[in-house]
Amino acid sequence: LSSRFVKIVEVGPRDGLQNEKTIIPAATKIELINRLSDTGLPVVEATSFVSPKWVPQMGDASKVITSIQKKANVSYPCLTPNVKGLDAAIEAGVKEVAVFLAASDSFSKKNINCTVEESFERVRPMITKAIDHGILVRGYVSCVVGCPYEGPISAKKVAEVSKKLYDMGCYEISLGDTIGVGTPGSFRELLKTVSQVVPIKALAVHCHDTYGQALANIHCALEMGVRVVDSSVSGLGGCPYAPGASGNVATEDVVYMLHGMQYETGVDLQKIINTGNWISERLGKSNGSKAARALTLK
Ligand code: HMG
Ligand code: MG
Repeated sequence: LSSRFVKIVEVGPRDGLQNEKTIIPAATKIELINRLSDTGLPVVEATSFVSPKWVPQMGDASKVITSIQKKANVSYPCLTPNVKGLDAAIEAGVKEVAVFLAASDSFSKKNINCTVEESFERVRPMITKAIDHGILVRGYVSCVVGCPYEGPISAKKVAEVSKKLYDMGCYEISLGDTIGVGTPGSFRELLKTVSQVVPIKALAVHCHDTYGQALANIHCALEMGVRVVDSSVSGLGGCPYAPGASGNVATEDVVYMLHGMQYETGVDLQKIINTGNWISERLGKSNGSKAARALTLK
């Protein structure tokens, strides 16, 4: 793939929907994933095998992942918090999983009920088991710029955690600005530091748009050589354990910017806009993508 290719990792069905208060029918989730896979997106994160006591919205993970129409050229990773979740994912025939931990202890305790150190003991056997089963493992690091409970997080700490995950066998590390506090200033510092210990090509950026900085931060990451960007259709999302966190950057806005910069994504902008309008209507929300709103009014 050329260096003008940017891989977009669509996280709407998981990061987008996990925060919705009312339980969405599995059929709607399945249709959303099918529609997204039809837009040219290479990766659609489908669901998470987490505890339904913690995140009831994702309680139908097995049903969703086994009912979608899988396309050969699309990957459908699922989030797994522990071996129990991984086993359920293996049982459901999942080919890629994502493990997640944080660069902040307070967030880690709220999100997965253990410290960062303990979370490594949780993910280590998962990564080994997944790899033994021929399953690819993506690693997420949350709170890479700031934590809702602790405030600023140092780039050095994020580098340490990212390297550890990478060395354990994650093929890609997604740096999550969970509460969207980053700016191109902090992102440059973050990526400079992390890329000293993890190859830049193995890094992804996962921006939430709480402070309206997401596209600027993605632009900064592209300038520094990052070629993997997480985003969510119509900007759905938030994190149940990050109060006030708004949605991920909207996929439509990312695609619009990337194509405007002559990057290739393989994504059909009109199709993703249609999908965003469809799911927004289903959820009774207005579309959170500015590009989608502008291009729909035309
Ligand atoms: P715990 O309560 O410490 O775990 O939760 P436990 O082992 O004591 O289990 C409690 C109960 O849950 C038990 O049931 C388990 O069987 C069950 P009981 O015996 O009481 O009937 N259980 C499960 N059930 C189904 N699937 C499982 C599972 N595990 C346990 N996998 C745990 C610890 C990690 C499980 C919990 O805290 C959890 O599920 N957390 C997930 C929270 C979450 O999904 N957060 C959002 C995703 S992260 C995110 O959004 C950030 C990201 O987008 C990047 C960014 O933006 O920065 C990725
Ligand atoms: Mg997120």
